[in-house]
Amino acid sequence: MAEPIWQALGDALSVVNVGAGTGSYEPPDRRVTAVEPSAVMIAQRAPGAAPAVQAAAEQLPFADDSFDAAMAIMTVHHWSDVGAGVAEMIRVARHRVVVVTFDPRAWDDQWIVRDYLPEIMTHRAPSFPSPARLLDVLPAATVQPLLAPHDCTDRMFATLWARPEQYLDPRVRAATSVWDLLPPAVSARALEQLRRDLASGEWDRRHGHLRTTPAWDVGLRLIRAELPAG
Ligand SMILES: C[S@@+](CC[C@H](N)C(=O)[O-])C[C@H]1O[C@@H](n2cnc3c(N)ncnc32)[C@H](O)[C@@H]1O
Repeated sequence: MAEPIWQALGDALSVVNVGAGTGSYEPPDRRVTAVEPSAVMIAQRAPGAAPAVQAAAEQLPFADDSFDAAMAIMTVHHWSDVGAGVAEMIRVARHRVVVVTFDPRAWDDQWIVRDYLPEIMTHRAPSFPSPARLLDVLPAATVQPLLAPHDCTDRMFATLWARPEQYLDPRVRAATSVWDLLPPAVSARALEQLRRDLASGEWDRRHGHLRTTPAWDVGLRLIRAELPAG
């Protein structure tokens, strides 16, 4: 999924990656500065990764127009104030802002939510700002679906759509915060039901075609805004 994000950065030579985490999706061919509030995440950045500044989106420690572009990938749902964070991205970027997030409305179209974990719509979906909310603070932005390949290396909750067995692996579940937000009894019930449906062939009867589908719209949205000059 990195390629469309890098294309959206256009001709930007310098990029600030806000909520950078360990640095997935940082373009290798631009001057990147990572911003990340968590020391634990910063410590997990690979040797040779872009330099990281410990700070939060809502108060970026940079002068106005410091970078050609600002990017924020799968992080806005963690921010305490999305409006303030996006305003800061606009302030420090000269040319464009690129945001990737989930459209929570797409979640109940996903089999893992619809068939097994409808509780996510109340426990998790509300933390994701809608694309409409982001367009309020990023006027004139474009929004496009970012398709998740069937073998997506970033094993987020929704990108396992063609690999149902992976949800049964506790190490895979530990890598995404979704499961922590659900009551343990709810997760246990959903996983047991999925285990049964995989063993009986019911999952494959209903969704087996997904195993050979190359890419799927899981609700990821790529939002790109060109900033007016000056
Ligand atoms: C799901 S991770 C995504 C990391 C990375 N962008 C990626 O795509 O792999 C979300 C990140 O947002 C960070 N975060 C949480 N609150 C934040 C805030 N207020 N400002 C900036 N980043 C924040 C978290 O520490 C975490 O590293």
